[in-house]
Amino acid sequence: MKKISKSIRDILPTVSPDLIYEVILTTKSRDGEINAAPMGIKFLDNLSSFLLSVYKDTKTHSNLIESGRGVVNVTRNPILFIKYLAKDKERYLHEEIEDAEIVDVPRLKNMEAYIEFNVEEVIDKISRRDFICKVVVVYEGVGIIEPYSRAVYALVECAVNMSRIEPYLDQGISIERLLKSISYSIDIVKKTASGKIFEEYLKTLLSSLPERSSSLLKEYLSL
Ligand SMILES: Cc1cc2nc3c(=O)[nH]c(=O)nc-3n(C[C@H](O)[C@H](O)[C@H](O)COP(=O)(O)O)c2cc1C
Repeated sequence: MKKISKSIRDILPTVSPDLIYEVILTTKSRDGEINAAPMGIKFLDNLSSFLLSVYKDTKTHSNLIESGRGVVNVTRNPILFIKYLAKDKERYLHEEIEDAEIVDVPRLKNMEAYIEFNVEEVIDKISRRDFICKVVVVYEGVGIIEPYSRAVYALVECAVNMSRIEPYLDQGISIERLLKSISYSIDIVKKTASGKIFEEYLKTLLSSLPERSSSLLKEYLSL
């Protein structure tokens, strides 16, 4: 029987309010449409709540406003961060979800841990909204032991920076640093992952971007 608790410390003993963690968030619209997307979460001091800062033009944002609940899917598998950035993610999403324990939003199968939550407070910002979320229940998923690979962390870094190109362009913020950082992350993945895997990841990442971001990036990377 997997451990299930109301306390984050029981299941994730080392998490800290001083760090932002990258997770996959599953949410549901008023009409019952399910979504999954990579998001950052930051625990508040008592660890019984955490903060999500979400761009207003995302599906995750509208789902959190509409239904006020969700599931934090904890994984260190970089492929999932790339897959759930993709525009056509509905294609595989429905085969990869199952019912959660308490909240009426599904979780992804085979994650390392889960946190089910309710939104308690919404704070309006310029292009984002902050959601203060209350932990309903936290539990173990499948245990995975894998040595550290630079490719994994470089891939997630690459995915984060790629996902920022479009919002930065919309807000008139320079994307020069993003492009440099993406290029550096790609160099690391090239060095530390096999050619086949590298090509596959890059193709999926590029296909997740809107046309404007994708062509700017391809031009910068001379692809
Ligand atoms: C690792 C990672 C972390 C991310 N964190 C956030 C975040 O905290 N807030 C946000 O609005 N977008 C974040 N993004 C970008 C969203 O995942 C991206 O905009 C996504 O397309 C939103 O999907 P949706 O429209 O289906 O909700 C992150 C992306 C990655 C790869």
